[in-house]
Amino acid sequence: MNVNDMVLKLLSEENDYISGETAANTIGVSRNAVWKAVKALEAEGHTIESLHSKGYRLAPDSIRLNEHLIASRLNTVRLGRHLVVLEEVDSTNDYAKKLAPTGAVHGTAVVADRQTAGKGRVGRSFESPGGKGLYVSIIVRPDFKISDAGLITSMAACAVANAIEAVCPAEVGIKWVNDLYIGSKKVCGILTEATLNLEARELDHAVIGIGVNVLSAKAEFGADLSSRATSIEDETGERISRNVLCAEILNKLEEYMTNMKSRVFLDEYRRREILTGNMITTRVGDKEITGKAVGIDDNAGLVINTGQGTITLHSGEAQLSRIKKD
Ligand code: BTN
Repeated sequence: MNVNDMVLKLLSEENDYISGETAANTIGVSRNAVWKAVKALEAEGHTIESLHSKGYRLAPDSIRLNEHLIASRLNTVRLGRHLVVLEEVDSTNDYAKKLAPTGAVHGTAVVADRQTAGKGRVGRSFESPGGKGLYVSIIVRPDFKISDAGLITSMAACAVANAIEAVCPAEVGIKWVNDLYIGSKKVCGILTEATLNLEARELDHAVIGIGVNVLSAKAEFGADLSSRATSIEDETGERISRNVLCAEILNKLEEYMTNMKSRVFLDEYRRREILTGNMITTRVGDKEITGKAVGIDDNAGLVINTGQGTITLHSGEAQLSRIKKD
């Protein structure tokens, strides 16, 4: 470990200020070397507060991803208690899916600063530029029946919407099934990948992948994506810390998951859902269906009135064909 990494580790582990002298003695270098390391860390994007009388402290809302800053805000029993924080990965979901069969414990969370092949649903990609978004995948091993597995994404959508609202002044809507919106643009997507134990008819484990656009990335997104996607910063003007948001998501997810089987979260899901009341089009197999979204059923399916009766969608995509409630 070089001096920069040792100083960062020391500051991360200490919640309070630490004097230059104590840091120097602990690491075994000069005070000047500590000062240089602090400057280098600041240049890398870490926010380090320095007070003449007290020394240095890693700011609790420092924007750089940091394992200790996430861990220090957790109030979970299991979620996020084992954290893997990476600079770069192809996809945190793929990383977590490889980790799960090696015995990774329930709640293990994989977080990355950037993804080179971030995955969305139905084979799409998820733009994941460095330093801008929160890309986190959580391995969960709940005792759910296969029939309950479909509820995980909708439950997670409520938990993440709640977490975003807890850290910034935004109102978050859910577009069935798994997209979170602020205003008329997508701010977060969720991709849940489940591995089933068919003999026991139970879920073996699932990886819940959550991608939140936190800081403005208009340059990285380009005009086309920017017309559909937004970030928390673009919508609220706030540059919130990804560490703070990550911890809040893990906290809420554990809370919601504990009560998932009771389906109480569905009331909140229905309140937040933005397709309901609108005319939509969707594909079922090779057929295009147009109808009015009339609600969310008890398995988080989208109920559509086609004029000839109702059908319920359990997965897939639905496009608004008219953004106007009755
Ligand atoms: C979607 O919008 O269709 C879902 C997007 C899910 C993106 C997240 S980012 C973290 C995790 N890793 C991935 O490759 N995908 C999910």
